[in-house]
Amino acid sequence: MSKVSIIYWSGGGNTEMMANAIAEGAKNAGAEVSLSKVADAPADFINSDVIVLGCPSMGAETLEENEMEPFMLSIEKSISSKKIALFGSYDWGDGQWMKDWQQRIKNAGAVLMSDGLIIKLTPDANGLEKCKEYGKKIASF
Ligand SMILES: Cc1cc2nc3c(=O)[nH]c(=O)nc-3n(C[C@H](O)[C@H](O)[C@H](O)COP(=O)(O)O)c2cc1C
Repeated sequence: MSKVSIIYWSGGGNTEMMANAIAEGAKNAGAEVSLSKVADAPADFINSDVIVLGCPSMGAETLEENEMEPFMLSIEKSISSKKIALFGSYDWGDGQWMKDWQQRIKNAGAVLMSDGLIIKLTPDANGLEKCKEYGKKIASF
């Protein structure tokens, strides 16, 4: 059974809804899932089979600067060869924050599962279904 750690930041709850649905999809597919806000990330998350990171587009196409950006900086040197998947909500942009984040993950030598899952604002039923599917894919990554 694969161990999946989902770690996210969400200001308004949209990325959190995605996180919950991804967790549900991964659990239903048989993964052992730990779900936490970035401020409460478990100390041993690095030992998970798959690390799943969530953050909405903030600033001007950046990660949230007070918690998620420092967390990324703190893990960038220790994620080489780790399996990683990304997700997050956005609004008016074109998803550039996710493209930049993906590149950062690759530059750190990690194995990116696929393009990150991005959803405009609050996920609707179809969006939540996409999140569950993404969770299922994560469980067998
Ligand atoms: C301070 C701030 C900056 C934002 N910057 C961007 C941005 O650069 N591009 C974009 O597409 N959306 C941007 N957004 C919109 C958020 O990504 C969007 O509202 C998202 O659904 C928030 O997710 P959350 O509910 O998980 O916090 C910004 C929102 C805030 C509050």
